[in-house]
Amino acid sequence: MHVIAVASQKGGVGKTTICLNLGLALARAGHRVLILELDAQGSLGLSLGLADRARPGVAELLTGAERVEAVLQRTRDPQLQVLTVGRVDPTTVAGFEEALVRGPVLAGVLSRLAADFDLVVADCPAGLGKVTTRALEVATHVLMPLQAEPLALRSVGQLLALVDHVRAEKNPRLSLLGLLLSMFDRQASASLDVAETLWTRFPDGIILDTVIPRDGSFLEASLRGAPLLLMQKRPPPLARVFDQLANDVLARLDPARPEDDDGPIPLLL
Ligand SMILES: Nc1ncnc2c1ncn2[C@@H]1O[C@H](COP(=O)(O)OP(=O)(O)O)[C@@H](O)[C@H]1O
Ligand SMILES: [Mg+2]
Repeated sequence: MHVIAVASQKGGVGKTTICLNLGLALARAGHRVLILELDAQGSLGLSLGLADRARPGVAELLTGAERVEAVLQRTRDPQLQVLTVGRVDPTTVAGFEEALVRGPVLAGVLSRLAADFDLVVADCPAGLGKVTTRALEVATHVLMPLQAEPLALRSVGQLLALVDHVRAEKNPRLSLLGLLLSMFDRQASASLDVAETLWTRFPDGIILDTVIPRDGSFLEASLRGAPLLLMQKRPPPLARVFDQLANDVLARLDPARPEDDDGPIPLLL
């Protein structure tokens, strides 16, 4: 089972949006996917239209009030399940984080689910604090969304340093899946400058080919509690971006996998 931690130094760069839409795209590509929310703010549940902290989830696993089988949530896609953060009172966020970071529950849950899922996409809170660090300790891969703006360049170095540290100290199998340009605005010269710097400064292959554009339909989708693909009977063309991202991600997880577009498929058998 691959565990992809979606992490970034900054908040509001599209982590939760990417987890949700990428998770669904990976499930539609035929994989058994769990979206795991580790952010006490609970925005994933909100983006799914669940009432704020209404359902038990990770918090209840930490207190031992629930078993993991009872808190997994099925979705319209039989291949996709979701485990939200649960009922975390704003006054108990520190306790939640402490329990998540110190105890064996997170690693235990993942090993328990290893036979049932091919991929876990973990939505981390903003910043490189202890929850994100813990997520990296139990993950196999890290995916870093990056908003195409000048400050982003500095945060890349900070995340890479944390990945190196976790790899050296706790989790030698952790690898960087890639940096993902998000909220990319083709009209904005700052966006283009940052993209150009990233593409030229970093070695080939660190930046994923897929770029997530800035688009108003993401906000609308999160307000309506749906992934982009399920917004309408006919999904907006933008939803295709996540199929492309899923392909990029799968090719990196399993480099031996044949590329999608490596030649025509003969019609006649
Ligand atoms: N590509 C995008 N274009 C426009 N708005 C976006 C995009 N991705 C996310 N958003 C919106 O920006 C806000 C923050 O996104 P979110 O995914 O919650 O970021 P994070 O999890 O990194 O804090 C949300 O309101 C979301 O709907
Ligand atoms: Mg988020």
